[in-house]
Amino acid sequence: MEENVLDNEKLTSDEIEENIRPQSLEEYVGQKEITDNLKVFIEAAKIRNESLDHVLLYGPPGLGKTTLAHIIANELEVGLKTASGPSIEKSGDLAAVLSNLEPGDVLFIDEIHRMPKYIEEILYPAMEDFELDIVINNDGHSRNIKIDLPPFTLVGATTRAGDISAPLRDRFGIVSKLNYYNENELIQIVKRTSRVLKMDIEEKAAKEIGSRCRKTPRIANRLYKRVRDFALVKHLNFIDYETTIDSLNKLKVDENGLDAIDIEYLNAIILKFNGGPVGIETIATSIGEEVTTIEDVVEPFLLQEGFIKRTPRGRIATEKSYYHLQIPYFNETKEESI
Ligand SMILES: Nc1ncnc2c1ncn2[C@@H]1O[C@H](COP(=O)(O)OP(=O)(O)OP(=O)(O)O)[C@@H](O)[C@H]1O
Ligand SMILES: [Mg+2]
Repeated sequence: MEENVLDNEKLTSDEIEENIRPQSLEEYVGQKEITDNLKVFIEAAKIRNESLDHVLLYGPPGLGKTTLAHIIANELEVGLKTASGPSIEKSGDLAAVLSNLEPGDVLFIDEIHRMPKYIEEILYPAMEDFELDIVINNDGHSRNIKIDLPPFTLVGATTRAGDISAPLRDRFGIVSKLNYYNENELIQIVKRTSRVLKMDIEEKAAKEIGSRCRKTPRIANRLYKRVRDFALVKHLNFIDYETTIDSLNKLKVDENGLDAIDIEYLNAIILKFNGGPVGIETIATSIGEEVTTIEDVVEPFLLQEGFIKRTPRGRIATEKSYYHLQIPYFNETKEESI
């Protein structure tokens, strides 16, 4: 399979990752509406000497949900405990996490939509009344016990807000949707990373990465690191424009930031399924990717940029996709006929 900028993220060392993660709201670039509001809520919670209301962060991968969760704990000056939806399999797992909390702590649950339903139900009283209700089974006798929990803030993150049940969603006092970043913000992020990793980058080069990173900070940072590799090997002591263009082309990210999987996906719809409408399972099978990867990672950006449309009968490629892939577009009133 072709190299994909998203897949390889997992390979970067955690340490480098931690260094380039902003640590405060001040350093966090963009998402201004969210951060302005959070600033107020955090300050108010501190004045009242209470825990911050529970926060749900949602949006496509790599836009800064985990980063923001860490920042919330930093700004509140409290501890952070983390768990992830799929790792909480038994009620005991969640009970252990909850009973380990210190007063005021932030509990960050990543991929919260993947938590089993019966576990979710343990969270309700914990979130509402800081109370843990569990059933203990002893020699065939079961009994309920209630344990008081210290006040805490649950920060949940998900790429799929739609998969969160209404009762769970309703228990979050602050619900924020992270959006794709604009070019200026991405340039700022690239320059910040370049300062942290101590390798300068030309303005024009930073701009190029900013415009080719799928409007996503994680990808901007990743592209910066790869371009830096190319520059180092050329014995440069800063990253210039020419090397940047050259390396981005080698990495197969095009001028719109579309990567190999995006292109394969669009090509499949257009060439194999006549532009659509075609169901997502069919596309997934034909390009050998998981449906969830396509839904969570590939499609949100293509939809936002107008390369595809989602219709009740399946996905269709828009004229913009044909144009981008230089495939002649015959308008058989494809889009209108849906
Ligand atoms: N607002 C921002 N300012 C600066 N850097 C950012 C910002 N948001 C994200 N980043 C950078 O992008 C990287 C990815 O962000 P993060 O891990 O928080 O994304 P995420 O939304 O949690 O993704 P996922 O859904 O895959 O868990 C971080 O390591 C961080 O360095
Ligand atoms: Mg995350």
